[in-house]
Amino acid sequence: MKIFFKTYGCQMNVHDTEVMKGLLVNSGHTIVTELKTADLVVINTCAVRGKSENKVYSLIGRLKKGGYKVGITGCVAQAMSNKLKNYDVEFIIGTRAITSIIKAVEGTKKIDLEDHICEVNATTPALRRQKKHAWVNIIAGCDKFCTYCIVPYTRGRELSRPLEDIVDEVKSLASQGYNQVTFLGQNVDSYGKDMDNTSLAKLLEISQRIEGIERFWFLTSYPSDVTTKLIDTVAKYPKLSKNFHIPAQSGSNRILKKMNRRYSRSEYLELVNEIRSKVEGSTIGGDIIVGFPTETDEDFEETLSLVKAARYIRLNVAPYSPRFGTVASKFYPDDVPYEVKKIRIAKLASLQHDIEKSLNEKSVGQEVEIMIEGNSAGRSYGRTIDNRMVFVNDKIPEGEILKVRLTAFKSGTLYGQIRKVSVFAK
Ligand code: SAH
Ligand code: SF4
Ligand code: F3S
Repeated sequence: MKIFFKTYGCQMNVHDTEVMKGLLVNSGHTIVTELKTADLVVINTCAVRGKSENKVYSLIGRLKKGGYKVGITGCVAQAMSNKLKNYDVEFIIGTRAITSIIKAVEGTKKIDLEDHICEVNATTPALRRQKKHAWVNIIAGCDKFCTYCIVPYTRGRELSRPLEDIVDEVKSLASQGYNQVTFLGQNVDSYGKDMDNTSLAKLLEISQRIEGIERFWFLTSYPSDVTTKLIDTVAKYPKLSKNFHIPAQSGSNRILKKMNRRYSRSEYLELVNEIRSKVEGSTIGGDIIVGFPTETDEDFEETLSLVKAARYIRLNVAPYSPRFGTVASKFYPDDVPYEVKKIRIAKLASLQHDIEKSLNEKSVGQEVEIMIEGNSAGRSYGRTIDNRMVFVNDKIPEGEILKVRLTAFKSGTLYGQIRKVSVFAK
C-alpha cells in the first residue's frame, strides 16, 4: 500500500505518526509524500479545540470527493469514534493502539480504541522527520483534568515508560547518528511519578552521559510539577536545554482555580524566578487561554500582568473552546463573546511582540552556539540551547553545531553570522 499521512496537533501526535510510519515501512508498505500517489490517507487527528476537530471532518469530505480511502487515528479517533462511525472511513485507531496501524491498513482491523501503548518501546521502528534530532515519548496520558481540556479523555491516564527502555532508545539513536533528543509528554515532569525512585531529573541526568547526543530538550512541563531537583539538574549539565515550557493558562487566581490548575499566580511567578535565578541563560515559554467562562476584564488584566512579569521568549495564545465531555463544557456556559476573545488575543499578541523584541534585541551582538535544524530558501536555521531560532545565510547540514554572532532581530526573526564550526561537526 502507498500511504499518505496528514498529521494535526501536538508533538505527541507528530511522533505517533513517525512510529506508525516506521511500523508500516517495516511491514512492506510505502509512505508517500505526494497525496495524488496515495492508495490510502491516514489522518492523525487533534481534538484540543473545536477548530482542530472540525478540520478533520472537512478533510474527510474533501478526500472522499477525490476518491481516496481514508483512515483515522489520534485524539478525534479516540474520543469521537461514535461520530466518526457516520463517515465512510476504513478504520478508527485510538491514541494507545497505534501498533494496530498495520492490521488497520491491511484491512483486518476496523476499530481499536484499546490500550496497548506498552507495545511501543525502544525496539519499535520509527520513521523520523529529522535526521539528527529525534523525539521520544517518555510518558503517555494526563491525570490533571484541567476543566477545559479534552486530553485526559483522548490520551488516557499517565503511564511512564521504564527508564531503562528510554535509555536504550537514546543509546540506539546515538548509534544511528542522532545528536539531539527531545523527551515528550503532556506533563513531561510527571515522568516517573507512577514508579519507584524515578523522575525526569534522574532521566536527564543519566541520558546526558550518553555519548553522541549533544542536546536534550523536554516538553511540556506542568508548572507545579517542576521540582527544585529538575531546575538544579538543568542548571548543572551543559547538554540540557535551558528552556522551560511552563503554560500558565491564566494570570487570575479565580480563573486558575476554575480551570483546576494546581498553582496560584504567585506560586507560578515564584517558579519563574527560581528558574531565572538558578539556570544561567534560561528562557521561559508559555500558553494562555483567553475567554475561559466568566473571565472578566479584571481577570484578563491579571493575565496581561503575569505575561509582563514572566517575560516569555515564546507564547501560544488560544481562545477558549468548549470541549465535549469536559467539566467546563458541562457546567460553565461559554459566556465570553468571540469578539471579546479576539480583542484579548490581540492585546496579548502585541504585549508579547514587544517582550520578544526587547529580549532578542538585547542579545544582538552576543556570540551563541546553535545547532542546525533545517534549511529553507538557501538559508539554514538552528536553535540556541535556550530555544531561540537563528537564521544564517549559508547552507549548513542538519545537526552541525556552530558558533554565531547575533547580528539582527527583524520582523520576529533572529539572524546570525557564523564564527566557527564546532568540534562536534562531522
Ligand atoms: N499539558 C499541557 C498542555 C496541553 S494542550 C499543559 O498542561 O499546559 C496544549 C494547549 O492547548 C494548552 O496549553 C492550552 O493552552 C490549549 N488548550 C487546551 N484545551 C483548550 C480549550 N478547551 N480551549 C482552548 N485552548 C485549549
Ligand atoms: Fe490538558 Fe491540563 Fe492535562 Fe495539560 S495538564 S494536557 S491542559 S488536562
Ligand atoms: Fe491535540 Fe491530542 Fe495533542 S488533542 S494537542 S493531538 S494530545
